Amino acid sequence: MKNSFRKTWLEINLVNLYKNYELALKTVAPKKVIPVVKANAYGHGVLAVMEYLISRGVDVCAVSLLEEALHLRKHFKDLKIIILGAVLKEDLAVISKYNLDMTINDEEMLKAVLKFDRPLNCHLKVDTGMARYGIIESDRIIKATTELTKNPLIDLVGIYTHLAIVDENESYLDKQLKKMEKIVASLKEKPPYIHISSSSAIFTKEKALDYTTHVRLGISLYGLSINPKTPPLYPVMKLFTTVTQIRLLKPGDCVGYGADYCPVKPEFIAVLQIGYGDGFLRRNKNSFVEINNKRYQLVGKICMDACFVLVDETIKTGDIVTVFGNLITVDEVADYNETINYEIVTTMSLRIERRYLK
Ligand SMILES: Cc1ncc(COP(=O)(O)O)c(C=O)c1O
Repeated sequence: MKNSFRKTWLEINLVNLYKNYELALKTVAPKKVIPVVKANAYGHGVLAVMEYLISRGVDVCAVSLLEEALHLRKHFKDLKIIILGAVLKEDLAVISKYNLDMTINDEEMLKAVLKFDRPLNCHLKVDTGMARYGIIESDRIIKATTELTKNPLIDLVGIYTHLAIVDENESYLDKQLKKMEKIVASLKEKPPYIHISSSSAIFTKEKALDYTTHVRLGISLYGLSINPKTPPLYPVMKLFTTVTQIRLLKPGDCVGYGADYCPVKPEFIAVLQIGYGDGFLRRNKNSFVEINNKRYQLVGKICMDACFVLVDETIKTGDIVTVFGNLITVDEVADYNETINYEIVTTMSLRIERRYLK
């Protein structure tokens, strides 16, 4: 039985998603690209995304949480899955059992891993300036790599850092890169995965780094970027709904909760079956949607399951509405919400059907 009955859906173009992957791959060649598919592949649907990428030859990905890794492991037995976030000592047994790659994010975890009595695949994280995860002291990191490499139960797969800043502050970026470069240069044995760049740096800074082997591609896999120097990418997510009802309002009538839109002349209002329960937040009030290649303004407060658009007599029940992905871009919606494009796609609710183009 189908599990979505209303005509509201996210179109996810997997062919374009793969083109973005290829573009990154070409940019960093011969280095490799690790697709980042945390948070349900940034809202795009992790199983469909990974199934497609694997069908095109991808054999590695990164997530944030252990539960995200286990979900993927259930479906993809041979996939290399790197957990970027913090894990707990009591979960090392599960990480070992399911052959997942974990990140050593602090001294405590380093000690726990070195004492653990079963095999573990580890990436050592260096904090170069993000002050989130990773070990700070360079000497400690260099010593740790020796300890980890010596331990027969540990496969030290990688060493990596995450940049806090790319183009906005060159001196802070330099400080981060120099620290990492020095550490890598000091390693007696270099692990097979040495990675720094995520989307913002992949297309601009990675070429200059001759000591890395991989990059982590998140938002730009999905056709988006926050770095204006990123080359044009292929759009992946579009949000559609349809006109459910048309109302002709007369002077004296008002629209929605709080009755805060009350036309002074007769006006047509289209009701759309999408609202903040779908991730289409109340902050989108007074923004625009596209119908028949034209922009129309939202009016009234956005409800949990519906919203209202001021239309004209040309608009009919059943007309397709592009909420974003064509005339209105994800970036425009992000601006409207005073946020970044990451937040718009990642918070699309699970109750919206995902339709995949492959
Ligand atoms: C450690 C790490 N690597 C890579 C990424 C991917 O970043 P982006 O989506 O900017 O490519 C993230 C995302 O937050 C991250 O936390």
